[in-house]
Amino acid sequence: MEKIRVGIIGVGGIARMIHIPGYQKSQDSIITAICDTDDETLAKAAKLYNIPEKRCFKDYRDIIACDEVDAVDICTPNYLHCRIANEAIAHGKPFSVEKPVGMDYKETLDLYENAKRSNVPAVVCFSWRYRPYVRYMKNIVDSGEIGDLYHVYIRCIKNSGLIPGRKLEWRFDKDLAATGVLGDLSSHMFDITRFLGEEFKSVVADMGILVKERQRINSDEIGEVTTDDWCNILAKMESGTNITYQISRCATTIDDWIQVELYGKNGILLYKYWNGDQTIEIDVKKSGRQTLVPPPEFQAEQSQAFIDHINGKNDGLTALLEDGVKCQSVLDAALKSHETGRWVDIFEITQQGEK
Ligand SMILES: NC(=O)c1ccc[n+]([C@@H]2O[C@H](COP(=O)([O-])OP(=O)(O)OC[C@H]3O[C@@H](n4cnc5c(N)ncnc54)[C@H](O)[C@@H]3O)[C@@H](O)[C@H]2O)c1
Repeated sequence: MEKIRVGIIGVGGIARMIHIPGYQKSQDSIITAICDTDDETLAKAAKLYNIPEKRCFKDYRDIIACDEVDAVDICTPNYLHCRIANEAIAHGKPFSVEKPVGMDYKETLDLYENAKRSNVPAVVCFSWRYRPYVRYMKNIVDSGEIGDLYHVYIRCIKNSGLIPGRKLEWRFDKDLAATGVLGDLSSHMFDITRFLGEEFKSVVADMGILVKERQRINSDEIGEVTTDDWCNILAKMESGTNITYQISRCATTIDDWIQVELYGKNGILLYKYWNGDQTIEIDVKKSGRQTLVPPPEFQAEQSQAFIDHINGKNDGLTALLEDGVKCQSVLDAALKSHETGRWVDIFEITQQGEK
């Protein structure tokens, strides 16, 4: 089989850290072109990944139109995701898009419908699905070992918003990012919840901004932060399970703490990610408490999953645009709840009206 020739759009942090190494490991793909509006970033990436100048682009329309690109991977700030993805659809090129897919539910739904109409394959980078511990946790929940879930507590907190001197990058600007940690971190946690088999019914949310000002990127001027850096969400699921989410990037001394606590009818499952170390523990009534390590078959790779999807070899665990749409409905509901101070049914977002 011919290798899929991939063009990367936006060669910033996540592209260099996760996406590009994934394609480099894949036997089925090759990165043939890159695109970035920032000259220095583009030149650095061209050198690092050995991409000839003729296939280094500044305009996403040019990389999408390039004959030596079969599929694109969209790793730009959020406000560009759908615009670029719709252009890929216009050229019939499969795409992988970072999360959150869109700026709101309508934009995301329109993209989904356009891709479906045009029959263009697409995946969403809910990268937590490719972590072996998360896949293993899903396997245990699906097996019924801990039983139907009574309630779930999910925490995702880090101190990345407190890094000294961190500037007013796109993440802190509502017009470019839509939301802060809600879209950035909760989207992964909402997707994990759905990955474990739950669907959202309604949410109530509170959020706020602790670091209110930052220095602008290319000047000494101070600008206003307009996206949330913490949020707390309660969710009722269709199954009757209730879930509590605690999300922050102002967790003073903690680099990265993600904890998923599942309380089921037969026992509990605890997943903890603490500054790079991970553990999973199970405590079920019949066999007691054990620490578990995911077997090798739970290894997965996001970039390979995109290529497999294009090649018709989806394992059923890859997040698709419909997962992006579902997640977006929960993000919009959480935002609406914060604005109105009440519970919001997901139905209000998906039907665009109050129940
Ligand atoms: N899945 C995850 O775990 C995860 C983690 C981090 C970021 N992300 C997502 O990835 C996306 C990018 O985040 P990041 O942290 O890499 O940001 P970043 O700022 O480090 O990189 C974005 C890059 O896009 C470039 N860019 C901006 N406008 C462009 C345009 N019009 N055309 C081409 N390139 C353009 C920028 O110059 C920059 O190099 C965001 O949507 C973010 O939510 C996902």
